[in-house]
Amino acid sequence: MCGIFGYIGKREDAATIVFEGIKTLEYRGYDSWGVGCVPLTKSDTLILKKRVGKIGNEDVKDLPKSTLAFGHTRWATHGGVTEKNTHPHLDCTGTIAIIHNGIIENYDTLKKQVSGTHTFVSETDSEVATHMIEVASSAHPFIEAVRSTFLQFEGSNAIIAISQKEHMMVAARNGSPLVVGFGDHEQFIASDASGLLPYTKRIYFLEDNEMAVLTDDAIIILDAVTGKEKHITPTILTWSVTAANKNGFSTFMEKEIHEQPIVLEQCLHRSDIQSIAEAIKNARGAYLIGCGTAYYACLAGTYLFSTIAQRHINACVASEFTYQEEFINNASLVLALSQSGETMDLIDAVKRAKKHDASIASIVNVQGSTLWRLSNLPIPCMAGPEIGVASTKDMTTKIAILLMTAYDIAGHTKEGKQVMKQVLASVKNIFEKDSLNTIHAVANHFKTSTNLFVVGRGTSYPAALETALKIKEISYIHAEGLAAGELKHGAIALIEKGTPCIVFLPHDETYSANLAAAMEMKARGGYIIGISPQQQEAFDAFIEVKDAGTGTIIPNIIVGQLLAYDVTIAKNLDPDKPRNLAKSVTVK
Ligand code: M6R
Repeated sequence: MCGIFGYIGKREDAATIVFEGIKTLEYRGYDSWGVGCVPLTKSDTLILKKRVGKIGNEDVKDLPKSTLAFGHTRWATHGGVTEKNTHPHLDCTGTIAIIHNGIIENYDTLKKQVSGTHTFVSETDSEVATHMIEVASSAHPFIEAVRSTFLQFEGSNAIIAISQKEHMMVAARNGSPLVVGFGDHEQFIASDASGLLPYTKRIYFLEDNEMAVLTDDAIIILDAVTGKEKHITPTILTWSVTAANKNGFSTFMEKEIHEQPIVLEQCLHRSDIQSIAEAIKNARGAYLIGCGTAYYACLAGTYLFSTIAQRHINACVASEFTYQEEFINNASLVLALSQSGETMDLIDAVKRAKKHDASIASIVNVQGSTLWRLSNLPIPCMAGPEIGVASTKDMTTKIAILLMTAYDIAGHTKEGKQVMKQVLASVKNIFEKDSLNTIHAVANHFKTSTNLFVVGRGTSYPAALETALKIKEISYIHAEGLAAGELKHGAIALIEKGTPCIVFLPHDETYSANLAAAMEMKARGGYIIGISPQQQEAFDAFIEVKDAGTGTIIPNIIVGQLLAYDVTIAKNLDPDKPRNLAKSVTVK
C-alpha cells in the first residue's frame, strides 16, 4: 500500500534521495505522491512538492538543497485523490510535517479536539496528526509530542513526523510496517527494506508500539508506551544491491520469472528443511495459511503432504482462518506462508492463533518482517527481493520447500532431492528459446479474449488457480481456475466457440480424467491450450512441460506465469504495477 521513505544526514540532496526512494516503492501501488524537505537555506517553513498520479518523468530538481526530507506514495482511503489530500501534511506553522500509512480509526473524535483552533486543508484522517503534534509540542519536546499523539490513535498506523526547529525525524508504528537503515552519518527510514539496499544493509524493523528517533548521527529506538530507550540489534540484509535492479530485463516481473532456475537450484542446498519437518511431525493439527498466491502454495502443500508424507494438513485462506480458530490449541502448528511478511490478514490470523498458544512456523521471503518476528520458527524463503506486484519466484520456492519437507517427513530426503533435480531440468527446458516462442505465440492468441478457463486436478488444481490469478491480476482478462471435475457442475455453461481453455495435463494419476475435461470443453467449442509432456489430439495449442514427478506443479506454474506475462505485454500493459493492486496488502 502507501510507501514511505525518509532521509537525514550528511548529504545535501536529501529531497532527491527521498524521491529516488519512493520510486523504488512504486510497485506497492499508489495514486499520488509527495516529498517534503527542510531547506538548507534560511526558510520559515518546510518546502513540499505534491502531485496526483504516477511519478512518471517528474523530478524534484525544483526542491532546495536539504539534509532532512521524507516522501510518500499515497493510496487513497480517506479523501479523494487530490493534491490537498496527498502527503506530507503541514501543521499551521509550516514547521512540522507528517506522512502516514494506515487508518486513524478515531480521527473524527481527535479532529473535534483541535479543529476549533487549527485549519484543516485536507479531507484525510492523517492531517489530524500534524495538528495534534503542533499542540503537544508547544508544551513538550518534539519526541514527546509525537509519542503522546501516536498513543491516542486507534487502528493500524505508521507515522513519521519532521520538526524543522529540532531538525529530526520521529517515527512510530502499530501495524503498518516501518524499517530504519543505519548509515555512516546518515539515517534512513522506509516502509520496505529493498529501497534501503543502495545505502545500507544494517536495518531494523520496528515492532508494534516502537518509535524511532532519527538524527544526523544516530537512530534511537524507544518503547512508545513507556517512552524508554530500547537496545536493539540491527539485522544485516543478505540481499545484494543488484538483486533489487531489473538487471537488463524490461520489467521486474520478467526478471523475477527468469531468476527461478537459479533460485530453485539453491533449494537443493538448504539445511533447514528438517526443522519444518520436525515441527509438523510434533504437531497435533497443522494449518497452512496465506493470502492470494501464497494461499495457493498452501493448497499445493496439502496435496504434497498427503501424497508424499501421508499427512493431512489443513489449508486455509488467512482472512477466513478466524472462523476456524476454535480448533486451535497449544498442540497446533500454524505454518504461515508470505512473501512480504506484512500482509495484514495473515498477521491478524497469526496473532489470533498465538492467543490460542499455537506454535507459529513461517516461510517468509522478507527476513525480519512482522511475520518473521511473530514466528517461533521463521524459515527464510531466500527467493531474493520480489518487486513485481505479481508473486512469482517466491511462490515456486515455497512449493519447492514444502515438497522437500514432505519427503523429509516421509523419511525419503534423498528422493526429494532427486525430484527437485527433475524439476530443475524441466524448468530449464521452459526457458529454451523454442519453448519461450511457443508460449509467446499462445499468449498472443488469447490477448483479445475477455474470458478464459484454467483447469487441472491434483496439484494441477492449485496450478490452475494460480495461473488464473496471474492472468487476471496483470492482464485484466477474466480468468477462472477450477478443479477439472467441477467443470460439469456449472462453469462449462460459459464455454463457447473460441473460449481459451488452459488444461494442465501432466503424466500422473490425473491424466485420463483431465483429458476427459479437455474433450468436454473442446466439444463445446473451447480452444484447448494443453500444458503437458506430450501433444494430444484434443489440443489446439500445445506447450511442452517435461514431467518432474511430484514436482511437476513447479514448471507448470512457471508456464502459467509466462503466459500471463506475455499476454500483458501484448496488451501494452505494465505487469509490475497492475491497477488497483499493491505488492504488500497491509490493510484489512
Ligand atoms: O506478501 P504475501 O505473500 O503475504 O502476499 C499475499 C498476496 O497479497 C499476494 O500473493 C498477491 O495475491 C499477489 N499479487 C499475487 O501475485
